[in-house]
Amino acid sequence: MPTMEHGFIFRDPSEKSREIVKRDVQLLSPSYTRSYGFVMSHGKGAEVWDIDGNYYIDFAAGIAVLATGHAHPKIIDAIRAQAEQYVHIGATDFFCPQQIKLGSKLREITPIHNAAHPEDKMIYFCNSGTEAVEAALKLARYRENRKYIIGFYGGFHGRTMGSLSVTASKAIQREEYSYIPGGVEHVPFPGRAFSERAKQDSWDWGDVVMFIEQFVIKRKLPGDEIAAIIVEPIQGEGGYVLPRDDFFPKLRKLCDKYGILLIVDEIQSGMGRTGKWWAVEYEGVQPDIVCTAKGLGSGFPIGAIITHKDIMGKWVPGAHASTFGGNPVACAAANATIELIESEGLLQHVTDLGDYTLNRLTQFRRDHPSIVRLEGRGLMIGVEFGGAQGQPLSQFRDEVVNQCYLDGLITLGCGSSAMRIAPPLMISRELMEQGLDILERAIAIVEENHAELFEHA
Ligand SMILES: Cc1ncc(COP(=O)(O)O)c(C=O)c1O
Repeated sequence: MPTMEHGFIFRDPSEKSREIVKRDVQLLSPSYTRSYGFVMSHGKGAEVWDIDGNYYIDFAAGIAVLATGHAHPKIIDAIRAQAEQYVHIGATDFFCPQQIKLGSKLREITPIHNAAHPEDKMIYFCNSGTEAVEAALKLARYRENRKYIIGFYGGFHGRTMGSLSVTASKAIQREEYSYIPGGVEHVPFPGRAFSERAKQDSWDWGDVVMFIEQFVIKRKLPGDEIAAIIVEPIQGEGGYVLPRDDFFPKLRKLCDKYGILLIVDEIQSGMGRTGKWWAVEYEGVQPDIVCTAKGLGSGFPIGAIITHKDIMGKWVPGAHASTFGGNPVACAAANATIELIESEGLLQHVTDLGDYTLNRLTQFRRDHPSIVRLEGRGLMIGVEFGGAQGQPLSQFRDEVVNQCYLDGLITLGCGSSAMRIAPPLMISRELMEQGLDILERAIAIVEENHAELFEHA
């Protein structure tokens, strides 16, 4: 029987897990957003075990981080080999071969606007997603008179003050904090599902790029004072929301017209998660700055921005840096991650398995009214729940997530009423099928428990 303790649900058995959670809630910040009482013991690939011996399939990958899965021997070897040489040098002050190897590879695989050759690109290394965004924002504003940034509602870019200024995902993330940097204008994100409805109106109010030009630029912020537009190619924390098809090409044109830099936040969607190195590659445009982190180090903390040398080349010594940024062990893990994605053909695998998963869930959706939106690319798939009147069902979503956990599947919510399917990229078809069996059963159980939500008035 499942148990509730400290506000979290626990599977059976859970004695050891409950003891850890009891100590955790007394010791660690309550600002974390845990959902259920999973306490990890160890993992292998896309399978994990908790400290009470329960087994799970992992559809969360540590929030879309573990690109190559848990404990991949080649990642472990790379980490060990570098750690035996040296763990830290401080690449702010000294030089580091692992950074050169990683930087060279990143500029090969990352398309950047007006950069025809890898040699036209430059890299900055940091430790996390939010630091990559901070670096991008600072770099974009490092131009005379360019003081404004445009971001999108639903966008999540991190929790440090600069990144928070462009984040507009959930009010709780900003609430009570004074002095969040200003100069940021948020506009609606043209989600594909929303836009299909909007396009049917005589005035296409889903055309956000037109809104930016006609309202933001013409009536509020002069175009030549806007430093950058920052956007996720697929909104992550905001609900795994895909953009409408014409959005990025129009956005690129607008940026070119006013000399605005297009920053693409690929922290969650990048590093092969969608079946291409970067999700923006589906959009047919090239950004000016790409932010990456999460999957880059297969779980080792590392972030980076990649941009044109004409943009980054303006920074002078001291303009930006970080003690741990591009740590050699983290770079070794990232180098091994990229090698594995290439040698194991993971981009193709992710594309094929993503198609299979979407097809299967699309069939399942036909008999399950709780699923009101289902979309994704590769292994970044969102499932959104709603009631008969189209109302978002957050509590319902939480119950599905909890039911999955009880039945041995690790998942995470996103947005107000969606959940994400974001397993390690190397998950096998067999494990994916088993995980989907658990997910579909969980949805069916929770639907049955709340049949009243789907009755039409
Ligand atoms: C798109 C996006 N940007 C930025 C971040 C922040 O990354 P980090 O938590 O490593 O600071 C996240 C984290 O979820 C993210 O999904």
